[in-house]
Amino acid sequence: MTDTSVMEDTVRWLTAPGKGLLAADESQPTIEKRLNARGIECTEDNRRFYRSLLVTTPGVADYIAGIIFHDETMHQSTDDGEPIPEACSARGIVPGIKVDRGTTELPGSPFDEKITQGLDGLADRLVGYRQQGARFTKWRNVYEIGRGTPSAQAIEANAEVLARYAAIVQSVGMVPIVEPEVLKDGDHGVERACEVNEVVLLAVFNALYRHKVIPELMVLKPSMAVAGKQIAAATPETVAAYTLRSLRRTVPAAVPAIHFLSGGQTPSEATANLNAMNNAPGPRPWTIGFSYSRAIQDPVQEAWGGHTQNREIAQQAFVHRARLNSAARDGRYSPDMEETA
Ligand code: 13P
Repeated sequence: MTDTSVMEDTVRWLTAPGKGLLAADESQPTIEKRLNARGIECTEDNRRFYRSLLVTTPGVADYIAGIIFHDETMHQSTDDGEPIPEACSARGIVPGIKVDRGTTELPGSPFDEKITQGLDGLADRLVGYRQQGARFTKWRNVYEIGRGTPSAQAIEANAEVLARYAAIVQSVGMVPIVEPEVLKDGDHGVERACEVNEVVLLAVFNALYRHKVIPELMVLKPSMAVAGKQIAAATPETVAAYTLRSLRRTVPAAVPAIHFLSGGQTPSEATANLNAMNNAPGPRPWTIGFSYSRAIQDPVQEAWGGHTQNREIAQQAFVHRARLNSAARDGRYSPDMEETA
């Protein structure tokens, strides 16, 4: 029998009132793309400086319960020489770790679909991360919406690896974040995004059940039902209604928290949609919060610009965005709050 008390503690922490998560776990190619887009060189020391800037931001622990890191960051130190995961815990923020190893071709798919890899040796890797202070983990699957996609094959195969990941993580006493990301690429409307979310989540929860994952000791990180990139965005109320429909039909009430990804929404869009979700009519048995990367970090990277002297204004931008999302998590956000830094 696994001792669940540590996981129960971690879940309590990750669902603390008024708080959400920051995903700062971009892979090397992804962080390179983000930094280069702002004219910032993606050197190892720039990544270290930037991610330690995030962790050491004064006051951000009031709004951020946990930060998800990439493996590289687990071995880096702040400017004061403190290991980043320790600096994180010391400030009252729980460190987490992305453990998947990205996506690869799904053989047999006629649509060039992807499957996420990283199960081999996972239990051993987790032991090391736990010793470094990580208490929760993340694994991301991707599903593209298109003609014939996501296929039944991709939905089933991805659900299976996601559930196996979650079962392995719970077996070592860590809390899995389960992230089935339905991509925003395309020209689909919110109705189609909602349908795809529904079928994907059904397969995921079926597989989680098959692998005996304890729903009370996990966090779900889904996409919102938003319109495809190529068409105009729907209103926050519409996004909230369709997103909640897909969640109510598929996610057990036993799951403590749903912390959304932002998936290419602008920072204010992601905050407004989260806020609408928390004000929508009808039952919401889970905490509905955030685990954003771009929708929190875009303004921070913009303010930093790769210059050491901008550290403080970058940190202010981080606290500001975290505070707005904290308000949205409680349904207290309004667009005029955007102006007050
Ligand atoms: P975005 O919020 O930028 O979608 O990133 C969330 C995430 O963790 C992707 O894996």
